[in-house]
Order: sequence, then structure tokens, then C-alpha cells
Amino acid sequence: MEKQTRSMLALVAVSLLVAMLPSSQAAYGGDGLSKDYYSSSCPGLLSFVREEVTRKKNETVVTIPAVLRLFFHDCFVNGCDASVLIASPNNDAEKNSEDDDSLAGDGYDTVNRVKARVERECPGVVSCSDILALAARDVVSLADGPYWTVELGRRDGLVSKASDVEGKLPGPDMKVKELTAIFKNSGLSQWDMVVLSGAHTVGFAHCTRFYKRLYSFNSTHETDPWFNQAYAQQLMEACPRNVSATIAVNMDPVSPIKFDNEYYTNLVNGLGLFTSDQVLYKDNASQKIVQEFSANQTKFFEAFTESMIKLGRVGVKTGNSGDIRRDCTAFNH
Ligand code: HEM
Ligand SMILES: *[C@@H]1O[C@H](CO)[C@@H](O)[C@H](O)[C@H]1NC(C)=O
Ligand SMILES: *[C@@H]1O[C@H](CO)[C@@H](O)[C@H](O)[C@H]1NC(C)=O
Ligand SMILES: *[C@@H]1O[C@H](CO)[C@@H](O)[C@H](O)[C@H]1NC(C)=O
Ligand SMILES: *[C@@H]1O[C@H](CO)[C@@H](O)[C@H](O)[C@H]1NC(C)=O
Ligand SMILES: *[C@@H]1O[C@H](CO)[C@@H](O)[C@H](O)[C@H]1NC(C)=O
Repeated sequence: MEKQTRSMLALVAVSLLVAMLPSSQAAYGGDGLSKDYYSSSCPGLLSFVREEVTRKKNETVVTIPAVLRLFFHDCFVNGCDASVLIASPNNDAEKNSEDDDSLAGDGYDTVNRVKARVERECPGVVSCSDILALAARDVVSLADGPYWTVELGRRDGLVSKASDVEGKLPGPDMKVKELTAIFKNSGLSQWDMVVLSGAHTVGFAHCTRFYKRLYSFNSTHETDPWFNQAYAQQLMEACPRNVSATIAVNMDPVSPIKFDNEYYTNLVNGLGLFTSDQVLYKDNASQKIVQEFSANQTKFFEAFTESMIKLGRVGVKTGNSGDIRRDCTAFNH
């Protein structure tokens, strides 16, 4: 009884405090973000985003992986601030960097279409970085993955340079130690790294990104012995020697467009496409997590939700930093 009264008091105290804060840093959430940020300035926002993302996904299912990866690449370079969306006439913006070169055009197109709709409904109010965060959540749930409440209130960055990208994003040949270090630079843990790698349950990879594992692994093994042999054969058929740089394969050969825990089961079975995937099972530091997610999809979904919320807080700009871009591909003049 006494306990109940105390928690009710605590609740009142919290809501008073919230009422006193400026709206840009209200309520819950990390780093000045809040779940109800646009509830009065753009009440229909969530359904506008959902509808436009669904329309785009109905046209091409590639929308799903394209948007998810775009969000990740945005957040790891100068924070989740839509800097990756900027198109520079000099080809020197983030998106022009080597690491961002393979980001699929359908990801950018999705954000631009959602932004156009949102600008018609609530002009000048919603940031491109929040639209990308919402769209990333929506594509995961449209692929039968988990659904979560997205924290909002990010503002768009004022800088986008190709030269800022180097060293910020993980590479497919990295091992656990290097991957962990890259994630740590963005404030995420080794656990988050293993969890978010589960995004590779959807999408495509170009042959060139894992070609070496098939044909020139090391001086004693032409093909990486970590591969399941039948899988390596399949990959060699899809990606023959001297294959064109435009050819790509599904990253999850079992359920390529479904957001599920199959990625982890694949790793247990030697069906990891990149070294950076397979190593999560080979390395004792992360093997147990892979086994757990492979055995329990609910556990993976809960973890993915938490880690995506953390990813969405990386380097966010709130308050007076940044601005609300009118066109996601260009800075306001
Ligand atoms: C852990 C380290 C990671 C590495 C080394 C890595 C590397 C890569 C590479 C090389 C590709 C293939 C690109 C291509 O050939 O076009 C790819 C695709 C993809 N990555 Fe990652 N990635 C990592 C983590 C993540 C994370 C954290 C996410 C999202 C939360 C993510 C989402 C995706 C998606 C969805 C695709 C497919 C893109 C498409 O089909 O358009 N990746 N990744
Ligand atoms: C997308 O496709 C589904 C299934 O065909 C349909 O029910 C839905 O109305 C479509 N949504 C949009 C926005 O196009
Ligand atoms: C090649 O890789 C395999 C598997 O990791 C390893 O056992 C072998 O020692 C490597 N060979 C050389 C020369 O590094
Ligand atoms: C394939 O590439 C190798 C080098 O990786 C080259 O020596 C060979 O001539 C190429 N073959 C064809 C048919 O282009
Ligand atoms: C592997 O990791 C587990 C904990 O996940 C630990 O108990 C075990 O001692 C480790 N084994 C080796 C060989 O490092
Ligand atoms: C799977 O994970 C969920 C969430 O962590 C847990 O509640 C559930 O008991 C687990 N199921 C099994 C069969 O272990």
C-alpha cells in the first residue's frame, strides 16, 4: 500500500518536471529525443510515413534492405542527422565515399518520397533524420520483423563530407575485435554489434564483397574453409571468376526478404556470407549470442529493438543544433 502511494507520487513529480521542460527535450528518450515529439505539430506523421514506405515497398521489395542500411550508414558517420542524404554537385558528400557507394538508390528514393508527402501535410516541421529513423522501423516491421516506438526530435546536420566517412564503417573482411572497435567509436557495444548484424537477414551483397573468400582466400586454401561446402559451390555458380561488378546475391540464402533470426542459424551452419558475419559464430567472444538468437527469435527481436533505439541516438542533434531541411538532398540556403 505504502509502496503504491510512493510510486504514484513519483509519477506526479515526473510529469511536473516534463511539463516544465521545453518541448524539444520533453519526456523519455535518450539525448533529448522523445516519443511524442510531433504529436501536436504533425499528428498524422506516423501514418504518412507508413503509407509512403508501404507504397514504395509494394513497388520494389529492395526498399526494405535499402532503407535499413541507409539508416545505419547515416548514424555511424556524424550521427543520425541525414548527412548521408546530401547530394553534392562536386561529388564530395558522404554518399560519394567509397563506403557509401553501394547504398541502394531505393533507400534514398524512399526517404525523398516520404519527405515530399510529409511536407505537403506538415510543412517545415519534420526532419529528414526522423523520417529515416521511422522508415527504418517501418521496413523492418513490413518484412515481418519487430515493431518498436521510435524516439523523435533529431535535427538535420549541416555538414556532409566524403572525407568524414573513412574508418567509421565496418568492412566485410573484419574480425570481431575490429568490428567491436568500430561500433565502440559510435558508442555501441559488442552486444549491439552482434545484434545489429542480424540486419543481414535481408538484402543483397555484390560478389566483389566476398569474392576473395571463394577464389583467393590464402596460400593454402583457395576457398575459405569456414564456408559450408555446398554453399560455397552455390556462391561460385552465382559469382563465377571475373564476374561483373554489378552481380549481387541474397545475404540470407534461406529467407532473403523476411526479417527473421535465420541469419544466426545460417552462421551456425556455415552460411555466413562475409568474414564479418561468419566470425561472429567462429569467435568464442560472440558464439553464445549467435546460438541464443538462432534458438530463439523472440530474444533476437527484443534485442534488435533495443539496439536500434540505441543506434537511433548516436550523435543526434537537438535543440539549436542543425536544422529542419526542406529538401533532404540539399542544405537549406
Ligand atoms: C557488423 C558490421 C557490418 C558489416 C561489415 C557490413 C557490411 C555490409 C556489406 C559489405 C554489404 C553489401 C553491400 C553491397 O555489396 O552492396 C552490406 C549490406 C547490408 N547491410 Fe551491412 N554491414 C554491417 C552491419 C550492418 C548493420 C548494423 C546494418 C543495419 C542495422 C546493416 C544492414 C545491411 C543491409 C540491410 C544490407 C543490404 C543492403 C541492400 O540490399 O541494399 N549492416 N553490409
Ligand atoms: C500495398 O500492397 C498491399 C497488398 O497488396 C495492399 O493491401 C496495400 O493497400 C498497398 N498499400 C499501398 C500504400 O500501396
Ligand atoms: C588459411 O586459412 C586456414 C583457415 O583459417 C588456416 O587453417 C590456414 O592456416 C591458413 N593458411 C595460411 C598459410 O595462413
Ligand atoms: C580473369 O581474371 C584473371 C585475374 O584475376 C585474369 O588473369 C584472367 O585473364 C581473367 N579471365 C578472363 C576470361 O577475363
Ligand atoms: C568461451 O566463452 C565462454 C563464455 O561465453 C567461456 O566460459 C569459455 O571459457 C570460453 N572458452 C575459451 C576457449 O575461451
Ligand atoms: C525466448 O526468449 C524470450 C525473451 O527473452 C523468453 O521470454 C522466452 O522464454 C525464450 N523462449 C525459450 C523457449 O527459451
